[in-house]
Amino acid sequence: MALTPGRVLCKAAGARTGNGGRNRIVVTTDSMDMDAFTYRNGELCAEGVALRALADQHGTPLYVYSQTHLQTQYRTLAQAMRAVKPLICFSVKANSNGAVMRTLLDEGSGLDIVSGGELYRARRAGADPARIVFAGVGKTADEIRYALRAGILFFTVESEPEARRISACAVETGTIGRIAFRINPDVDPQTHKYISTGKKENKFGLDAERTLKAYALAAQLPNIEIAGLHMHIGSQILTAQPFHDAVSIVREFCRTLKTLHPTFRYLDIGGGIGIRYKAADQPLDPATYAARVVPLLEELGLQIVMEPGRYLCGNAGVLVCRVQYVKDNAFKKFVVVDAGMNDLIRPSLYQAHHDILSVAEGRGVIHGDLVGPICESGDFLAADRDLPEVGEGDLLAVTSAGAYGFAMASTYNSRPLVAEVMVNGDRAWVVGQRETWEDLVRREPLPATA
Ligand code: LLP
Repeated sequence: MALTPGRVLCKAAGARTGNGGRNRIVVTTDSMDMDAFTYRNGELCAEGVALRALADQHGTPLYVYSQTHLQTQYRTLAQAMRAVKPLICFSVKANSNGAVMRTLLDEGSGLDIVSGGELYRARRAGADPARIVFAGVGKTADEIRYALRAGILFFTVESEPEARRISACAVETGTIGRIAFRINPDVDPQTHKYISTGKKENKFGLDAERTLKAYALAAQLPNIEIAGLHMHIGSQILTAQPFHDAVSIVREFCRTLKTLHPTFRYLDIGGGIGIRYKAADQPLDPATYAARVVPLLEELGLQIVMEPGRYLCGNAGVLVCRVQYVKDNAFKKFVVVDAGMNDLIRPSLYQAHHDILSVAEGRGVIHGDLVGPICESGDFLAADRDLPEVGEGDLLAVTSAGAYGFAMASTYNSRPLVAEVMVNGDRAWVVGQRETWEDLVRREPLPATA
């Protein structure tokens, strides 16, 4: 989606030129992932809507999502993978907003869920349970029964005890539990250690030797149907090689499993496609990804399932916040905004980099930390970085915040969850209401007073 020709984004990683003794960032990026958010007439816009107008109307902090970006990402991936016609199951954990989900469902997406709560949200958004896969190492019996009754496509199963529990729940509910064991192919996805999941030391899945035995066990269990095999090696992976390596390993298993189990028909290759967070990142282009994995998948004769999360929604969202104070001490400058680690925890939790843009174009540059109001030193959105030169009341946009942003938000420090707005062209509408202080205490009955 190219909304503005000759797009100019103010990106911290860009080239600097002098500007009256100050540095001014002047960058022309070709960041295909970020082009839903562009400057128009000196104002950063989400598609055709000025972020300033949204901030004034809905307050800050505010998550803003581009619907067109969600659609474009989905279509690009579906197109790249068309030779194997995958069932693309959006990984709801990345952004469980109902309107985001609905947008992708309307594109033809299925869903990858990880809890009963996500299944509830998915059904409320109108998802067809027959296009839902259910992952996670700790599914409770209640969650399993709920999913069985709903008629989900299959469970991705992380252990033998889980297969036994699904079997027991299926017997109890008079249903059939379709399962795909999650294999841990032990490849290094070369990503942050907290979001690497396919190495042998991680808690996820079964190692290769155990996998075949687990299928043999499951074949004996009542009300279990062996539906397929699952893998997911990690998140924010920027090269196709780890996917190629993992798929090369699992396809041998698939060949064997297909001959052993006539109902075996799905290979779920998980999510993990990385996106651009800063100008220097080379995002993994779906065409490159497809070129490395499709040839391995084509001849398997299996229905391929994918579980992209971040790829679909990461660069569909920004977090708009307002500067409260600019302060400095002997060492540093701090720009204090009204968004904190409770609204976007990725920088604190993973030292994740999010580009920070001024909503008003053409600001100079200062160096320092962008921090929130939370009482923790770890409460920062950007640490030790070049930041737009802003003052009290100015607006900033934390970019690439559409995945694992609002979804990981909390009310820590009794800060209500923030509002979410969706934009398409020049239309904008609220897709998540800002919580109130009353919402914060709604579930807490006070002890009776004497
Ligand atoms: N499938 C499974 C089984 C997963 O565990 C995940 C993510 C996905 C699919 C989607 O992965 P994606 O395509 O989004 O990379 N909170 C971290 C990311 C945690 C990922 C957890 N699993 C972050 O903010 O980077």
